[in-house]
Amino acid sequence: QRPILRLLSCPGTVAEDLRRNEQPSGSVETGFEDKTPRKRFSEMQNERREQAQRTVLIRCPEKISENKFLKYLSQHGPINNHFFYESFGLYAVVEFCRKESVGSLQNGTRTPSMAMETAIPFRSRFLSLKLKNQTSEQSCIQSSDQLPPSNRKLVELLCYAESIDDQLNTLLKEFQLTEENTKLRYLTCSLIEDIAAAYFPDCVVRPFGSSVNTFGKLGCDLDMFLDLDETRNLSTHKTSGNFLTEFQVKNVPSERIATQKILSVIGECLDHFGPGCVGVQKILNARCPLVRFSHQASGFQCDLTTNNRIALTSSELLYIYGTLDSRVRALVFGIRCWARAHSLTSSIPGAWITNFSLTMMVIFFLQRRSPPILPTLDSLKTLADAEDKCIIEGNNCTFVRDLNRIKPSGNTETLELLLKEFFEYFGNFAFNKNSINIRQGREQNKPDSSPLYIQNPFETSLNISKNVSQSQLQKFVDLAQESAWILQQKDTDRLSVSSHQPWGLAAILLPSVPNRRSVTNKKRKRSANESIKNLLESLKSNRTANFTETNEK
Ligand code: CTP
Ligand code: MG
Repeated sequence: QRPILRLLSCPGTVAEDLRRNEQPSGSVETGFEDKTPRKRFSEMQNERREQAQRTVLIRCPEKISENKFLKYLSQHGPINNHFFYESFGLYAVVEFCRKESVGSLQNGTRTPSMAMETAIPFRSRFLSLKLKNQTSEQSCIQSSDQLPPSNRKLVELLCYAESIDDQLNTLLKEFQLTEENTKLRYLTCSLIEDIAAAYFPDCVVRPFGSSVNTFGKLGCDLDMFLDLDETRNLSTHKTSGNFLTEFQVKNVPSERIATQKILSVIGECLDHFGPGCVGVQKILNARCPLVRFSHQASGFQCDLTTNNRIALTSSELLYIYGTLDSRVRALVFGIRCWARAHSLTSSIPGAWITNFSLTMMVIFFLQRRSPPILPTLDSLKTLADAEDKCIIEGNNCTFVRDLNRIKPSGNTETLELLLKEFFEYFGNFAFNKNSINIRQGREQNKPDSSPLYIQNPFETSLNISKNVSQSQLQKFVDLAQESAWILQQKDTDRLSVSSHQPWGLAAILLPSVPNRRSVTNKKRKRSANESIKNLLESLKSNRTANFTETNEK
């Protein structure tokens, strides 16, 4: 169902990519020096939402002159920003400086008339641009990439890196959401909001999850939250006199039923009238009811929920953790990619560990360092002021929202050390008796017999990894031990291996083979040299090619 985004730009050489990845010193590379005030999550969300409201999505002809295109659209007002991308055709995202320009453009736009089919009239901000006469234009469009590099290219890039720290930062830069992709995510939410507004005029559709929590990887799903609080709380101004008025409404027995009814009509609406919304599924009996669909033009797989404010709050918490110290994101991306490469995570729901759980494990591990790299949630709560106080459905979700009030960590450990120690730590963690808890930053006794217990930070009686089976957990532990061992072998570092052989992070991203597994199990009996010889032999075989073919979400 998911469209594959074809990229317009020519595939670059590794050397070009390396140049592209060079950073000026003192930039995001280490994070310690970054003194710029950092935006609150709500500020960032509001700014991006307002930008998205001034933006249109335009399906363009294959060949188009960028200058003429911009000149044509500028008739409606100045353009602030634009970019093109490919997804089964060429699309443009155009952000006007003023919101009125969108209305002006819509006023000059017609509903298509078709010979064989009938168009259901719907005035959205998703338009098609047609050429009046069929003379084709010269194409000179630079298109923005919406997907990460292929695994073959990633392995090459990693092999050319200078150190494991450099490898993790390279991986982060290649996989993180680009500015354009983030804009496209907010725009997609904004387009869906317009459709939902047909029923609920004051609703807000907000992105949450990995699209906004700083841990999103190019190609990740788009989680959306239909926020009806504005509709509920609009008329709060007091009137004088001895009367008050209330809306006549329909009542249902529970919040869950209300959620199901709302999502059901929105699902129908997206299915029948939503331009570009395909494969709409209403999954209303899930613990958290949702509508899943593909937004064809952006290529995003979307999950729309409502009454899910806690998930938005946990996205805000992760945003804070991801922004506090740049090592956090680099490590999380490395671990997520490692887990995906070994099929520990999957895009299909099941007994697998999720990316959300892995992120919690990394945060917990970083809270356990000495000195800690990340503060506990309880300590973020003690830094909160009156404005931060927040209770959702009886759960205390209070924590400091202003990043600038959190003291940076004095810990200067390298990413290389942290990666090794992460595998070491969880390769030996007492999962049978302890739970992971980022609120206190301490292991606690497991309250039930789930193989993996990670306490939900806000709904503290819930386990976010309740779905994980014993065998999946065991697979995680085995692979963590194996990776810790591979990273400890000094011989795998790039000095002793020619640069085009996978080493460091690239070596642990390669699929595990029985050969290598048995190497791990017998590790104490074998000399390191002999093991490395084995490893390199297996790497020389066609496994790099296999990895390239199989390892993508
Ligand atoms: N969430 C939660 N409890 C869970 C699962 C999810 O609170 N058991 C919330 C988290 O805030 C999570 C969001 O729902 O970030 C979206 O879930 P999901 O899409 O599964 O995870 P992402 O963090 O978005 O990661 P991915 O890139 O895999 O989509
Ligand atoms: Mg998600």
